[in-house]
Amino acid sequence: MRTYKVIVLPGDGIGPRITEAAVDILKNTDVKFEFIFYEAGDEALNKYGVAMPKETMEAAAQSELILKGPTGETAKQVVLPLRQELGLFVNLRPARSLPGVKSRLYEGEEANLLIVRENSEGLYARIETMREEFAFNTRLITRKATERIMRIACEHALRRKRKLTIVDKSNVLISDVFFRNICREISKNYPELEVNEMYVDNCAYQLVKNPGQFDVILTENMFGDILSDLASWVQGGLGLCPGANLSEDKGMFEPVHGAAFNMKNKNYANPTAMILSAKMMLDWIGLKHGDRQASESAEKVENALLTTLAQGKKTPDIGGTLSTKEFTVEIIKNMV
Ligand code: IPM
Ligand code: MN
Repeated sequence: MRTYKVIVLPGDGIGPRITEAAVDILKNTDVKFEFIFYEAGDEALNKYGVAMPKETMEAAAQSELILKGPTGETAKQVVLPLRQELGLFVNLRPARSLPGVKSRLYEGEEANLLIVRENSEGLYARIETMREEFAFNTRLITRKATERIMRIACEHALRRKRKLTIVDKSNVLISDVFFRNICREISKNYPELEVNEMYVDNCAYQLVKNPGQFDVILTENMFGDILSDLASWVQGGLGLCPGANLSEDKGMFEPVHGAAFNMKNKNYANPTAMILSAKMMLDWIGLKHGDRQASESAEKVENALLTTLAQGKKTPDIGGTLSTKEFTVEIIKNMV
């Protein structure tokens, strides 16, 4: 049986605790992993004077799989180089209603959506200047990045409910007129899909008002960042939403949320988003390597997590009393 090597970056704040939980879960699947831990983030900055040590970047660059906890104030120095230098141009951020979790949906409504976020450019391209009297960021949208992310979004929509919403601000930004035009061109190759367009301000409103209307949302980098936090809240809280950063042949899996330094007792952080990120890693391995055991393990982890929540076993952020560790143990018990 093959062993998958995973570079683990536990990060800051609640990061190490929830990463430990996800690693414990992965160790209890039928897939064999070798976990190699590296430092990055605020603590690395304090220790070594750099948030992203060279060895960490090199190890990440050489690995097919990276499992990453949230990083703190230095996130920009850690996350953006990882995504951009390693070519992880796709950011998948699913948000769905979970059993036993009080969501902000109206009675009887359910949501199950996927945000496909362009992960390499837009306002995050780091084309920036700050002077005494002004500062600016250039919002870069290229044809190549837009075409490839639109194709990915269409492929996901085909495997889901076949509905795709292109989200932009093309009523104001010329770079989004460009984005939308390219998406329209590509959508012609996917006649099976219902494709609609929405401005980002309206999308934020609709995500609160009627999130059940969405299947796949495609958007550029910064809008995807903002909308994914919003989608987490709608679902029940920031502790719940996972994410995958992907290229054709590499994946970095991390929660949507940050390091949550303000969490009074870090023993009680909710590891759900991190565990679901590990589940996305299993799914990805299953697809890439045709590894059935990995796909089955992904399903097992998800089912165990949903069962545990449905049993009312939860962390305090979503109305429970369990610590990170206790909650993880309950999930492992349900992994049968
Ligand atoms: C996220 C984070 C990052 C982002 C920051 C920390 C660079 O907010 O992953 O959502 O904006 O992408
Ligand atoms: Mn964010």
